[in-house]
Amino acid sequence: MVKQNFWYKNAIIYSLDVESFKDANGDGVGDFAGLTQCLDYLSGLGITCLWLLPFYPSPNRDNGYDVMDYYNVDPRLGTLGDFVQFIHKAESQGIRVIIDLVVNHTSIEHPWFQDARTDKNSKYRNYYVWSEKTPKNQPELIAFPTIEDSIWEYDEQAEAYYLHHFFKEQPDLNIANPDVQEEICKIMGFWLELGVSGFRIDAAPFLIKGIGVEGENQEDLQHFLEEMRNFVISHRTDGVLLAEANVPPDQIPIYFGNNDRMQILFNFLVNQSMFLALARQEASTLWQSLKALPPIPDTGEWLNFVRHHDELTLDALSPSELQEVFEVFAPEENMQIFGRGIRRRLAPMMNGNRQKIELIYSLMMSLPGIPLWRYGEEIGMGDDLSLQGRTSVRTPMQWSNQPNGGFSNAPAEKLSQPVISEGKYSYKLVNVCEQQRDPNSLINWTERLIRIRKQCPQLGQGKWHLLETDHPSVFAHCCQGNDESILVLHNLGDQACHITLKSSENYQYLMDVFGDQYYDPLVQGLTPIPLSAYGYRWLRVNQKN
Ligand code: GLC
Repeated sequence: MVKQNFWYKNAIIYSLDVESFKDANGDGVGDFAGLTQCLDYLSGLGITCLWLLPFYPSPNRDNGYDVMDYYNVDPRLGTLGDFVQFIHKAESQGIRVIIDLVVNHTSIEHPWFQDARTDKNSKYRNYYVWSEKTPKNQPELIAFPTIEDSIWEYDEQAEAYYLHHFFKEQPDLNIANPDVQEEICKIMGFWLELGVSGFRIDAAPFLIKGIGVEGENQEDLQHFLEEMRNFVISHRTDGVLLAEANVPPDQIPIYFGNNDRMQILFNFLVNQSMFLALARQEASTLWQSLKALPPIPDTGEWLNFVRHHDELTLDALSPSELQEVFEVFAPEENMQIFGRGIRRRLAPMMNGNRQKIELIYSLMMSLPGIPLWRYGEEIGMGDDLSLQGRTSVRTPMQWSNQPNGGFSNAPAEKLSQPVISEGKYSYKLVNVCEQQRDPNSLINWTERLIRIRKQCPQLGQGKWHLLETDHPSVFAHCCQGNDESILVLHNLGDQACHITLKSSENYQYLMDVFGDQYYDPLVQGLTPIPLSAYGYRWLRVNQKN
């Protein structure tokens, strides 16, 4: 049997959009040449794996999530040659690359759809999902409820309705068609041969739903996840699949399978309950969500994140919980989106409060699983609420206090997205260059956090359990290693406290490895433990049996 390679369990993943990271040729659009120049920076930060948002040719109705050609690079971002150079340099820096695989749908401008809509007899007709009769509207399935009013759109040329869960410019592919499955594998094969380490499977639940496909059996479709895994492994034994599946706990096993489907899943449940816990300054909801997670197979792992390129989705919360989070973190209507999400970056949501920002990233980095950073989080970048929809959190990376924040030499009006140039989060104040010179900056704190995280593989690979404390604002958990364990404490409250762990007799304190301040070593075992307001401590302990 092939020995499994679990590199991903202790990866430090960083996500970025090539378009908004670094422009090397001065045309106002970030590109692969620019990203390649930044690999030294990413390596210095401690990143070990990049997740690239879609970079394929696209009419950009949905930030590139509407693909026109799966086998190419958007000419604005470079060429396939630039891509290969980038992969080569990343590899030599020890950085792996995962790319977005957007195959629930194509762009309406994809040649497959153009053929399908104009010729009923084309082999591409059955690549999509059609209905000649007026289909039943299912508003609960609409992904962008304030923009679209149905998941079906009538197409005059096709003389039929086509399915689209997202924008109407993104017709859903018919995954039940074996030819489509074959196309998907071929696309994966192409990029694997160009050196990527795996894929982020966009919109995974929609992919295997089979809505509108006559006689389709959902369980059959789910098996395609196994085929994808087998295909990837046949090209690269260390290849990974990371699924975007924001689903209730009872559906999670569908995606992990029995060590034979996706290896990594975004931890949407924990992400949402973390924000509720922060709003309440009470650990219990976070605790409950971790308890609610089903066990996952050996090769599986959670991806913990704070924010990513979309809205902060809060759809798993009840209406009153959602309002609680809105009140604290998105009190103005313009900060909210789709009636269930927040279109802000973390730093402004926390009013720039450094202690809170540190607390949250310390939590994200120590929760059982793999951490995901998003570009700009290491410097506490802000958002631009004057931009439409989710673009508010997609402004260019702020490298320096030079024009356009050092992102591009083009005239400001040529940038594909404006740089934040006013207020507290302006590039003049928040940028990589200034922060790297300041030993107390967020970026230097982040680098240290990443370094310490790498020294604690128990967090990614160990068994973990939650610990009860006598303080409602404190979240405590422990990740077990073979010899030593890491016991982590986070105070979500704005009051300093001393806490007692209910089962402290099982642990012998060895040392503090990370914390929000210098704490004196604990001399009398683990009781009581002081924690400052929004304080956090990572303790190395021995577990006594
Ligand atoms: C995923 C992406 C999102 C996109 C959608 C449709 O949810 O994260 O940005 O709009 O899929 O592809």
